[in-house]
Amino acid sequence: MDTRIAIRARGITKRFGDVVALDGIDLDVAQGQIHALVGPNGAGKTTLLGLLLGLAVADRGRLEILGTPVGRSLAAPYGVAGFVDGPGLYPSLTAKQNLAALAALRGAARTTGIDDALDQVGLTDVADDRVRGFSLGMRQRLGLAAALLTKPRLLVLDEPSNGLDPAGKKHVYGVLNRLAAEGTSVVLSSHRMDDLEALCSEVTLVATGRVVFSGPLSKLAAENRELDYRLLTSDPEAARRLAVDTPGIQVVDDAGVWHDARMLVVRAQVPALDELVAGLVHAGVAVRELAPVVSPLEAAFLALTEQQQQEVGQ
Ligand SMILES: Nc1ncnc2c1ncn2[C@@H]1O[C@H](COP(=O)(O)OP(=O)(O)O)[C@@H](O)[C@H]1O
Ligand SMILES: [Mg+2]
Repeated sequence: MDTRIAIRARGITKRFGDVVALDGIDLDVAQGQIHALVGPNGAGKTTLLGLLLGLAVADRGRLEILGTPVGRSLAAPYGVAGFVDGPGLYPSLTAKQNLAALAALRGAARTTGIDDALDQVGLTDVADDRVRGFSLGMRQRLGLAAALLTKPRLLVLDEPSNGLDPAGKKHVYGVLNRLAAEGTSVVLSSHRMDDLEALCSEVTLVATGRVVFSGPLSKLAAENRELDYRLLTSDPEAARRLAVDTPGIQVVDDAGVWHDARMLVVRAQVPALDELVAGLVHAGVAVRELAPVVSPLEAAFLALTEQQQQEVGQ
């Protein structure tokens, strides 16, 4: 038993009738790590998180949580908190009353920590408002506050950034980073890669129930692949001619989507792009803007998931 490992999953398989939701998933999460499970809709993220929370049992495979093998019974493993498909809340109660009711359900005699939890997720101002009127983002944050009250060693969150405005995101990310620094492990899911850059160092990409990448984010982004870049210069015509003449550069004719005829979109790997920029400067053409059309992480995510979906014939 190694208590430094929060999750160790091997060959996890889960079917719903004919649908194979998880097909031999391996997952390792270390203590104090914020680990993202990323994949398109239907990839199996919610199903996997449900297994971690004890809401369902795998058909096959081994799962150890916080050093203890998970058995066949449906129960949240000790030390684990979180929710899938949105937190269960009482609409007619206030935020504060919800947390008190959830604490009472767990048998907690005292309700200390409720104000602090609300403060951490940025809901102090609406503590006495009924949850009925809360937005999705506010509900997500209240669900997180409820999980905080249990002082979990492993926190499991399904799409926690859904519905969060930038301020809400800042609160949630702040809470998660603090928890991780104190040794709590966090596993969260997202169908987008780019909003996790600020939060996670480790990521597992899943597509159609299988792991297509697992490892540090830096490794994913560093993979050498062609990207589309939009390029704005002082002389679009000269830039287009130079791009066409530069080896390794392909001019993509979808600049129209930028509503700016001066914008050029080129497909290239970084060395060829460097060459083009040097060529532009040499020719006296000023580079005003150069940026990937989608972030390198999002591009890696799309490429890997598309590849997997083609392999299983979807
Ligand atoms: N309770 C269920 N009954 C039948 N099929 C399900 C059930 N839950 C999930 N699935 C199916 O399993 C696959 C994975 O779903 P899910 O885990 O919700 O994916 P994600 O959260 O990544 O969008 C999907 O094809 C989905 O339709
Ligand atoms: Mg889901």
